[in-house]
Amino acid sequence: MSGSNLLFIFTGSIAAYKACEAVSQLVQRGHHVRVIATESALKFIGPATLEGLTGSPVLSDLFERGRAMEHISLTRWADAVIVCPATANTINRLAAGLGDDLVGALYLAHDRAKPWLIAPAMNPAMWSHPATCVAVERLCSWGVRFLPVGEGRTACGETGEGRLAEPAEIAGMVEAALARPVRRLRVLVTSGGTTEPIDGVRVLTNTSTGSTGAGIASHLVGCGHEVVLLRARRAQRPEAPCREEIFETFADLEAALSRLLRAERFDAVIHAAAVGDFGVEAVLIDGQVYPVGGAKIDSRRPPLLRLKANPKLVEQIRGLSPTPLKLVAFKLTSGATADEAGAAVQRLFAQGAPDYVVHNDLAARGASLDAFPAGIHARHGGDAVHCATRSELSVALEKLLILSTP
Ligand SMILES: Cc1cc2nc3c(=O)[nH]c(=O)nc-3n(C[C@H](O)[C@H](O)[C@H](O)COP(=O)(O)O)c2cc1C
Repeated sequence: MSGSNLLFIFTGSIAAYKACEAVSQLVQRGHHVRVIATESALKFIGPATLEGLTGSPVLSDLFERGRAMEHISLTRWADAVIVCPATANTINRLAAGLGDDLVGALYLAHDRAKPWLIAPAMNPAMWSHPATCVAVERLCSWGVRFLPVGEGRTACGETGEGRLAEPAEIAGMVEAALARPVRRLRVLVTSGGTTEPIDGVRVLTNTSTGSTGAGIASHLVGCGHEVVLLRARRAQRPEAPCREEIFETFADLEAALSRLLRAERFDAVIHAAAVGDFGVEAVLIDGQVYPVGGAKIDSRRPPLLRLKANPKLVEQIRGLSPTPLKLVAFKLTSGATADEAGAAVQRLFAQGAPDYVVHNDLAARGASLDAFPAGIHARHGGDAVHCATRSELSVALEKLLILSTP
């Protein structure tokens, strides 16, 4: 691969000398590289070196005379952007959405359908600091791709994780990001749990928080895809802005799915909502039937609820869409053995014909909020893709949808 436009952003790390070698390799492979350097970066590496390597002047100042609009034009020109080496400071600033310097303004203005890569380089304590961990997770959920950091002795003399990736690895990962087809998918994500009324104030619901659906929606938006989030009223909101429709009951969700799928064209549906298996058919007090969702029942007269099974929405989704789409369904088990889990996944494939089933088991969930040990199973078989967290799940699903959507 040759001839792509690359924006290479240097920040103030001692590993800047290694990044020069990565720039050199990318230039030798025929890419057009423009360099931005923060003020701190220029204390580690001189502009003459960077100009010599790329044949272009180095930009550093957001307000440089005659170049004030470069934060827009450069992002339009670039096929991919890489921050390398990326300091803890810059990673944290980008995750906060600050736009008061050239790097921050470039990040906010960049076209999110194009790859934005970050190759971190820092002391192990800085890399494992909670502020940095949260920033990395946040940026990942917005579609930023992180290059793996190396382990070993860092330039500051301490040992641990935080070393800048090797130059050949950096050049290879930039080219891999360029090779990955960037397509804008239209994705419908359902999220959160349905709520069935008992009387005017009491409901039957489930424990779904909507974090998985919100995380997936945010990640897809961050990657430049168009997302419609069909979200339960009390479910978690996505971090990234996207079009939302709200549901409460099973009937609301069924109607909204039917309307959206018939009227709009989607490339994929990620059906992460926890749809109630049962609805309230009748409220009985002393043998007398009271209207579901009616007046508040006297607390001294506990009712008997007659429940009805709700139809499986996942079975209807494909038939509602006039155009073919990829369907991702979710299967939650509780303390299942590997065989039981496998059988549950196969039953779901047989019922609703989803393309992928995300399986997770309640017993395997850890304490961490983002922890979500899950396996993504494909209808055509093969090994499941395993994820440890919701962020990993979002990244893996986006990748699968991009690669499998014609
Ligand atoms: C000798 C020296 C080496 C440094 N190396 C790193 C580093 O590898 N990673 C890092 O995150 N910060 C490092 N710093 C701190 C950053 O340069 C500092 O946080 C700076 O404000 C970063 O600015 P920038 O992100 O705008 O480039 C180093 C500082 C010094 C003095």
